[in-house]
Amino acid sequence: MLKRPMSGLCAALAAFAFAQPAAMAQTPGAVAITIDPADEGPVINRHIFGQFAEHLGEGIYGGIWVGPDSDIPNTRGIRNDVVAALKELKVPNVRWPGGCYADEYHWRDGIGAPEDRVVRTNNNWGGSVEPNTFGTHEFMDFIDQIGSAAFISANVGSGTVQETADWLEYLTAEGTTLAKERAANGHPEPYEIPIWGVGNEAWGCGGSMSAQFYLDNLKMFARASRNYNPDVNMMRVAVGPTPGHDDYAEVIMKGWSEKVWSWDIEGLSVHFYTTPNGWPPAYTATDFGEEEYAVVINKTYEMDGLLETYSGTMDKYDPEKKIALMVDEWGAWYAPTEGSREGFLIQQNSQRDAVIAAINFNIFARHAERVRGANIAQMVNVLQAMIFTRGEKMVLTPTYHAFRLYTPFQDATRIGVDYKAGKYRFKKISLPGVDAMAAKDADGRIWLAVTNIDPNNPVTIEASLAGLNVVAAEGETLHAPAIDAVNTFEDPDNVAPQPLSVAVEDGVARFEAAPESVTVLSLSPL
Ligand code: AHR
Repeated sequence: MLKRPMSGLCAALAAFAFAQPAAMAQTPGAVAITIDPADEGPVINRHIFGQFAEHLGEGIYGGIWVGPDSDIPNTRGIRNDVVAALKELKVPNVRWPGGCYADEYHWRDGIGAPEDRVVRTNNNWGGSVEPNTFGTHEFMDFIDQIGSAAFISANVGSGTVQETADWLEYLTAEGTTLAKERAANGHPEPYEIPIWGVGNEAWGCGGSMSAQFYLDNLKMFARASRNYNPDVNMMRVAVGPTPGHDDYAEVIMKGWSEKVWSWDIEGLSVHFYTTPNGWPPAYTATDFGEEEYAVVINKTYEMDGLLETYSGTMDKYDPEKKIALMVDEWGAWYAPTEGSREGFLIQQNSQRDAVIAAINFNIFARHAERVRGANIAQMVNVLQAMIFTRGEKMVLTPTYHAFRLYTPFQDATRIGVDYKAGKYRFKKISLPGVDAMAAKDADGRIWLAVTNIDPNNPVTIEASLAGLNVVAAEGETLHAPAIDAVNTFEDPDNVAPQPLSVAVEDGVARFEAAPESVTVLSLSPL
């Protein structure tokens, strides 16, 4: 299913080339990183730190929703512990209800009195019973509780244009019959829907459509996707490419460039998972060695080549970059945990996953001119999750911690970084030794993120500011006792961020980045 857009070597060289030229390190073997606050790039859109919560396994039921009668502390049925943890991530948007599930979802099943909700089978994911007790109002309540925004994926695969139109009217209108129905169901105010997905994976579970057939459908669905809430500029996201269906980029963008007045889109989706050796995912999430580590990280870097390719196609038809590229599904997809229920996509999450997250954030930031949204798959209990729950217990994963460390980068302005990345090699795989990214936030604070990709050796980092002296620096670092270290319900803080020990001398901030670590620090200049 996955085609290699760029070899590991090319990807590593691309990252290396990006990092040229570099300052000289003062300490032998150190990596000198020079940050130039005057070299301002685009804003790193906060939406690249978006999340994805699908009706899949225990992603919603058990993970987010326990129901108002549960013994697990909750607010209107939504877990208080999960809400508190997610608030820390400043989650900018949550994509819902799928995924593949979105193209079988009928919104009317999930509104009204709980006892009257339509019960169905979740055909995509394990054939579980879908009680629809978590529907539109519960989702909107959830994102309100965590302080996030809605990214709703509409049903193009098995729904109708009218069903889409009605759902958006129900959500956003005032004064109409559907708006009155929403009010009767407890929400008189129109909801805010800033992002609207027009289908999901139309090339696959969303209908196995050719790009042209999807484009023809898109025109009708986009036309009917009307937002009535004047406080919101809603973005419509079309299904876009993935390796193996690259033609979606060309066909949809060409179609858009030739469009007539009656329809439009503002975003194009891309899906890319870190699935190291094709399909079905066979690598394990735990108990792996260095080879599996290197292969997985190498695979992660393919994201860079893909975004380069798809942005290039978009530039052809949209040189002004009006259409955002939305990586609305990404993350590591491993073999399911042994003994877990088929189709529930349960996998552990190790320090390797935190490194994968950091590399992807840096790649998205490097493509920030075009990439203005991304959603990790998924939020709770599914794939590369932030959080695992078991009954009343909750544990935060290394990926959660990587997201938390990166919150200062939300809506910050990318600034230049120069460094020689060095190399981490394993057999034929050659990767950058370190991966760095810098930004300036709205208050003018300068932030640096550094990932040491090498799982064996620490590296000394010497961070300086072009033309300025660093006078103070502080931050946090996430590293682990072993290459495959994880957090469990029994040992929840095995992998957790620690305050960074950083020395500031002669205008330079110096610290040691542990093997396979993710570090974020702020630098104060004179
Ligand atoms: O995230 C799991 C699934 O992966 C989604 O439902 C689908 O869109 C993708 O194939």
